[in-house]
Amino acid sequence: MSDERDLIRSRINIVDLVQERTNLKRKGKAWWGLCPFHDDKSPSFQVSDLTGQYRCWSCGAKGDIFTWVMEVEKVDFRDALEQLAEKAGVELKKGAPNEGSKRKSYQAANEFTLQFYSAQLKSSKQTLDYCDRRGLSETVREEWQLGYAPGEHGLTNHLKKQGISLADAKEIFLVDGDQGGGYYDKFRDRLMFPIHDERGHLVAWGGRILGQGNPKYINSGDTPLYSKRKVLYGMNRAKEHIAAADRAILVEGYMDVIACHRAGVRNTVASLGTAMSEEQAKLLHRWCQKVTVLYDSDAAGQKAAARAAEVLSAEGLQVKVALLPVGQDPDSLLKEVGPEAVVRVTEGGLSPVEYAISQLEMKYDLTAQEFWDQAIDSLKLARDSLEVSKQLEALALRYPFINNPQEALRALKQLARARLGPTKSAAAPKRSSGIEKVVRDVTGPEKLILSALFFEELRPIAWEAIGEPELFPSWIAKQVQLALYTAFGDDSPQGETRNWLAEIPEDEAKSYLSELAMHLETKKDQLHIPDEASLRHAIERLGLKRERAGLIRKRLGGEFAGDNAMQFTKRWTQSIASEIDQN
Ligand code: GTP
Ligand code: MN
Repeated sequence: MSDERDLIRSRINIVDLVQERTNLKRKGKAWWGLCPFHDDKSPSFQVSDLTGQYRCWSCGAKGDIFTWVMEVEKVDFRDALEQLAEKAGVELKKGAPNEGSKRKSYQAANEFTLQFYSAQLKSSKQTLDYCDRRGLSETVREEWQLGYAPGEHGLTNHLKKQGISLADAKEIFLVDGDQGGGYYDKFRDRLMFPIHDERGHLVAWGGRILGQGNPKYINSGDTPLYSKRKVLYGMNRAKEHIAAADRAILVEGYMDVIACHRAGVRNTVASLGTAMSEEQAKLLHRWCQKVTVLYDSDAAGQKAAARAAEVLSAEGLQVKVALLPVGQDPDSLLKEVGPEAVVRVTEGGLSPVEYAISQLEMKYDLTAQEFWDQAIDSLKLARDSLEVSKQLEALALRYPFINNPQEALRALKQLARARLGPTKSAAAPKRSSGIEKVVRDVTGPEKLILSALFFEELRPIAWEAIGEPELFPSWIAKQVQLALYTAFGDDSPQGETRNWLAEIPEDEAKSYLSELAMHLETKKDQLHIPDEASLRHAIERLGLKRERAGLIRKRLGGEFAGDNAMQFTKRWTQSIASEIDQN
């Protein structure tokens, strides 16, 4: 399918690649180590040179060299491909012909802009004063690469001098065109915050007015380098801290991110002036399981916090909503109270249910039926049934209409059933398949034939068998047959197993084949290679079975018609017995 990817797969050995991060030990032909994707106590992580895949038999993590890089480097497929191509010395020709060079010229424009804005800041007394007033010391300014945009034609002229195409600069929101065909700066007289993507590429800008005025911020719109929905401010600096803490702190703006980092809470990021998006939630989930939402305590902030919590929960993250003192944001809290206050507030927080109930408490009296109806409705936000019962118990203690807590609990449960339907049940934990279980369902002869696919000398014989209709009795072998036929048609797969295996779409069949190959590798000191005689014998046996099944079917439709169940079983057994005698 893809020559580039095949070439990369041939040149990069997955065992070596994984060894760069995780220690593997050889057992037989297989390599084993501790699974890097869960807290592994004994080695359950197998890496296979034959299939080019890794597989954790305990937590179910699996993939090939590309998924490996995606997982450990937390990058998307394209990035993983680029990294591995570079490693393998393979030139990628993908993408529009000048896409790469366009990107480079955009990046160059942004880099020149960064230099220009930084230099401008150093000579702008009023901006430096503003920074000082807001606690943006020289160290902070350097760390966040803050700048100053003087405006009118400052940047435009600078970029022109540097040989940057102003049309390109316009594409990435740095300059705009006037009616006379000239250009002028997009950001004028503003304190500038460079925005980097997760990998640290400078992709966009935010500019704050110095002092009061409207609009307070101007942010880059979506450009070829930047999609608002996909970027979180501060992610490039925060990601390692987010991973280490297994938690991200989500705040509203530039100043809040910087304030939290200054207070030592370095796992903080912001979605910039837009509602939290699904993509941003996914981005966070690649780095952690838990998120604390820390938004302003005004009405707008709280509404946005509830919305963000919803999006994050839907992505499967564990969410807490932290509460700030009224009228404060993390930045003002740092300035007015100090770093400990910021740390404390980020360490606290309520679950979405607790948070919703706390909001209701402010709105209603406990004797209002609306409170109880809506409190029950908010249980929909619970992660699992455990949280539902915990909350119901807590609520029962405060139920004003019934004094006995047991009876109050019963009343609330009834209300919950009426309003929510059957109680929400906890998601079933994922069960790992386990090597033995998966291979067992297939009969011996089938397994032998499918195993032969992994050996070039035997593949043609196995391939012929695969082409035979109804030869395989087990469900999964049939699926494999179908998947192979779909992927290769009449031509047998060619070359290295890890390459042809990659052409089969990810599903049960592919999964079974890879597991089978990995299972073979774990046998003895070397691969357990089937010999030709037993392979042919296996095919023959399956052929006989198929014939017999055909006979039985025929009789089911004819000869045995009219029998009752008892007669049928008896006569059927006799007929099989006589057939076995004949063979
Ligand atoms: P300071 O007021 O300087 O402390 O900044 P802040 O980050 O606290 O601002 P605020 O809480 O008002 O807004 C949060 C974020 O929303 C900002 O960082 C911006 O990304 C965005 N934002 C705020 N005001 C505007 C605006 O007028 N236009 C746009 N496009 N975005 C804004
Ligand atoms: Mn602020």
